[in-house]
Amino acid sequence: MARPKIALIGAGQIGGTLAHLVAMKELGDVVLFDISEGTPQGKALDIAQSGPSEGFDARMKGANDYADIAGADVCIVTAGVPRKPGMSRDDLLGINLKVMKSVGEGIAKHAPDAFVICITNPLDAMVWALREFSGLPHNKVCGMAGVLDSARFRHFLSLEFNVSMRDVTAFVLGGHGDTMVPLTRYSTVAGIPLPDLVKTGWTTQEKLDAIVQRTRDGGAEIVGLLKTGSAFYAPATSAIEMAEAYLKDQKRVLPCAAHVDGAYGLKGMYVGVPTVIGAGGVEKVIDIKLDRDEQVMFDKSIEAVKGLVEACKGIDSALA
Ligand code: APR
Repeated sequence: MARPKIALIGAGQIGGTLAHLVAMKELGDVVLFDISEGTPQGKALDIAQSGPSEGFDARMKGANDYADIAGADVCIVTAGVPRKPGMSRDDLLGINLKVMKSVGEGIAKHAPDAFVICITNPLDAMVWALREFSGLPHNKVCGMAGVLDSARFRHFLSLEFNVSMRDVTAFVLGGHGDTMVPLTRYSTVAGIPLPDLVKTGWTTQEKLDAIVQRTRDGGAEIVGLLKTGSAFYAPATSAIEMAEAYLKDQKRVLPCAAHVDGAYGLKGMYVGVPTVIGAGGVEKVIDIKLDRDEQVMFDKSIEAVKGLVEACKGIDSALA
C-alpha cells in the first residue's frame, strides 16, 4: 500500500519541525510547500539526509507550486507570520487572512479530500476562514490549539505536583487566546480532579489560579523569550498527534478548534471543544454542561472569537 501523503503548507519553524516529526514517526511521505523559494527544498533535503542515521524511508520534497500537494491525505497549514514580542495573536489577522485565501484555494484545487489542520494564528478565525475559502466539509477542517494548550497546562501541573506528565490530564475549552478556558474540575492527576487535590492540601487554589494564568499566557511567555518568533516544537508535536489520530483512525479524544453547530448552544462557529478524531476527520464534538463560572468564561471566549470572525468579514467581503 502506498504511503500516506502529508502536505505541510508553510515551511518555517513549525513546518520544518512537522516534517522532521512525520519522518521520525514514519507517518508518510512529505511535501513541504512555501512561497519562499529554496526554503522548503533546503529543509526537505536536510531532513531526508537524517534518514540513514534515523532509519526512516519517508520521502521529502520541497515545493513552491500547489500542484505538488496533489492528492494529499493530510494538509497541515502554518503559512503566515508568527508573533513578535508585544503582539497578540489577533494582531496577525489582516496579513494571515490573505494567506488563508491562497492556501484555501490551493487545497480546494489540489487536495480536496485531505484532512486539514490549521495552526496559523489567530487560530479560531483563521481555521474558519480557511474552511470558507477551501469549501471543504466542516468535519475535514479543524484547528490545532487545544492539544497544545492542554499540554502546557499538563506540563505546569506536573511541575507543581512533581509527578509524571503522563499521569496528568487537562481539559481546555474555548478560543486559542487570552480567553481560553482551562477547566480545573475536569483536569486530573491520575483521575483525581484538581479541586479534590486542593482539598487534600497537595496544592492551593492560589497556586492553581497562577498555573491557569500561566497556561493562558503560555504562548506569549515563549514569544517573550525567543524574541524573533513564536513556539514551534510543542505546536508541531500537537498537530502531529491530531494527524496521526486521523491517519490511523485512532478515535482519539482531543480538544481542537472544530466546527460547532448545536453543541454548547452555538450555531455554526469554530472554537476549541473536545472532539473525537478518526478516519472520518472530526467525528464528534463532545458536549458538556458548564457550571455558571465556566459558562461566563466560555461566553467571553466565544465573543472574542466572534469579534475576530466579524473583523475577517470586514476585511474580505467574500467572507461576509
Ligand atoms: N503561502 C505559503 N507560505 C507562506 C505564505 C503563503 N501565502 N506566506 C508566508 N508563508 C510562509 C513563510 O515563508 C514562512 O516560511 O509561512 C512560513 C511561516 O513560518 P515562520 O515564520 O517560521 O512561522 P512559524 O513559527 O512556523 O508559525 C507559523 O503558526 O503558530 C502559528 O502564530 C504562528 O501564524 C503563525 C504560524
